[in-house]
Amino acid sequence: MSKKILVTGGLGFIGSHTVVALQEKGFEVVIIDNLSNSSLDVLGGITRITKSSPEFENVDLRDKSAVKMFFEKYSEIDAVIHFAASKAVGESVENPLLYYENNLSTLIYLLQQLKVKENAKFIFSSSCTVYGQADELPITESAPVKKAESPYGNTKQIGEEIIQDNCKVLKNLNAISLRYFNPIGAHPTAYIGELPIGTPQNLIPYITQTAVGKREELSVFGKDYPTPDGTCIRDYIHVMDLARAHVVALERLIDEEQTSNYEVFNLGTGTGNSVLEVINSFEKVSGVDLPYKIVGRREGDITAAYADTTKANEVLKWKAEKSLDDALESAWKWQKALEEKDE
Ligand code: WQD
Repeated sequence: MSKKILVTGGLGFIGSHTVVALQEKGFEVVIIDNLSNSSLDVLGGITRITKSSPEFENVDLRDKSAVKMFFEKYSEIDAVIHFAASKAVGESVENPLLYYENNLSTLIYLLQQLKVKENAKFIFSSSCTVYGQADELPITESAPVKKAESPYGNTKQIGEEIIQDNCKVLKNLNAISLRYFNPIGAHPTAYIGELPIGTPQNLIPYITQTAVGKREELSVFGKDYPTPDGTCIRDYIHVMDLARAHVVALERLIDEEQTSNYEVFNLGTGTGNSVLEVINSFEKVSGVDLPYKIVGRREGDITAAYADTTKANEVLKWKAEKSLDDALESAWKWQKALEEKDE
């Protein structure tokens, strides 16, 4: 098996941190990214951290012939970690076709190329969104997948089904879907981190941009949920823990340790924190008094989600190690580094 790994979306938030973790584990990495939601600066950040520049191809995975040409050029690649996808819940409601094309046709073209490999390994970037509002907390992998609340969530559900159906008939395809809870934070060097384009949809980048003065104040979307302090609860996992989980999952596929050729794992900390708890933690680690106001609920938000991490702990032998404070401290350091770059 070639130690050369294809990482699609490798200049994105989770992708870039995973590329660093792969290189540090001795893997050679080829990144495909069409730069639609990232920048080449990220390649520089990765190289500053690992002192080794991954190969990079600016390929649009929606172009079937370009995907075919890529695999002809890199014929030795048989392992793929697939991050490349559109991921803004709200945008997916406004523009569903963009999401179905970008998130599903790309997956299909990649799987078509892997079909002819003797022993293909595929890791899919999925999301706890597939559970919707789970009936029971914490959420296990056997929790029912519910009707998605958004086209984005639906593309993750359909994506998992496409992979599972292929694993049933293709004995040469070995795949793992990783269902992330809420990825946050940045690499401790602050050379890479989350780069939201435009107004951040997610809580943590909005908090750090408010704290650094780019945003006037944070709006807390609802304080009338059935939770202890009335705000929504999520499982915020440090992106460094998430990146490490991808390396562990890849090694499981390479070492052919799977009990079946398709597996699913929840990746979270197992702990839920409310929006107000996140704000308090951020104020503690940053020393910043965060301006915020309580406003109405956001359409589509669920009350609470946090992972039962037993399966990942026992089967992958992986456990999240970093705390909410660690993650928020790294996010804050990254935001300040971004500001220095803009000066
Ligand atoms: C977290 C909490 C908001 C912003 C989504 C996707 C998920 C993944 C992560 C892609 C919620 C509250 C937020 C703000 C707020 N995306 N909030 N003010 O919605 O749990 O998950 O992003 O991989 O798949 O579903 O994350 O960070 O948007 O929101 O009060 O300005 O923060 O209501 O309770 P979410 P989020």
